[in-house]
Amino acid sequence: MRKPLIAANWKMFLNLKEALSLAASLSKVNTDGEKDIFIAPSFTNMAVVAEELKKSAPHISVAAQNFYLGADDASSGAYTGEVSLPMIKSAGATAVILGHSERRNIFGEDDAFINRKVKCAIAEGLTAILCVGELLAEREASVQNEVVLAQLGKSLAQVADLTNVVIAYEPVWAIGTGKTATPAGADEMHNAIRTFIGRYYGKSASNEIRILYGGSVKPDNIKALMQQGNIDGALVGGASLNAEQFEKIINY
Ligand code: PGA
Repeated sequence: MRKPLIAANWKMFLNLKEALSLAASLSKVNTDGEKDIFIAPSFTNMAVVAEELKKSAPHISVAAQNFYLGADDASSGAYTGEVSLPMIKSAGATAVILGHSERRNIFGEDDAFINRKVKCAIAEGLTAILCVGELLAEREASVQNEVVLAQLGKSLAQVADLTNVVIAYEPVWAIGTGKTATPAGADEMHNAIRTFIGRYYGKSASNEIRILYGGSVKPDNIKALMQQGNIDGALVGGASLNAEQFEKIINY
């Protein structure tokens, strides 16, 4: 009922030539329209990758990894070094990853800022891939559900319609570490997230929203994750940088 979505987060990897070559390899992966595929290159590689995919694989969408929003939601201005929402749109992005733990923990983005970006992204017709997830210490203190649901509630404040929102549950201790949540453990959190969505947005929204899992997703664990009732796809970092591995993940 929910179409699986496999998303690649290329993070701060790949130069232009490498990004184009990976995009060209991935353009051959065909899912017969049964799955959505998103690729999130760096800002500098985004326009060329989008151009390449438009020609060779229009079924693959381009997502940005972030954008900046000035004070009072300004979409342009004197913000040296930053990239705006209209810029990522004009470079071919139809989606954007927001609230990634690296943005939260390295760059200090808080839920209020993420919430402003979610609202602006969906108002501009982009799909917001909203990431939430607990730290290892929070998991060890057994407060993961409170943490994740609080992130979710604050990041979605005043967001009335979730049609263009995808949630990605990414436990921070599983990102880039080779440790994955067990499929059942991940599903438990996905179920808590879906229940939360149901409480605030109603049954059809909770049935329809796609909840991705992220954190050391690899060809050998994707199938078991996708067999869980509440896991609708994956947000893949490391393994998405290798065409063969990412293809295996798409075709789990
Ligand atoms: P990983 O990254 O697959 O390398 O763990 C996932 C992510 O950060 O989205």
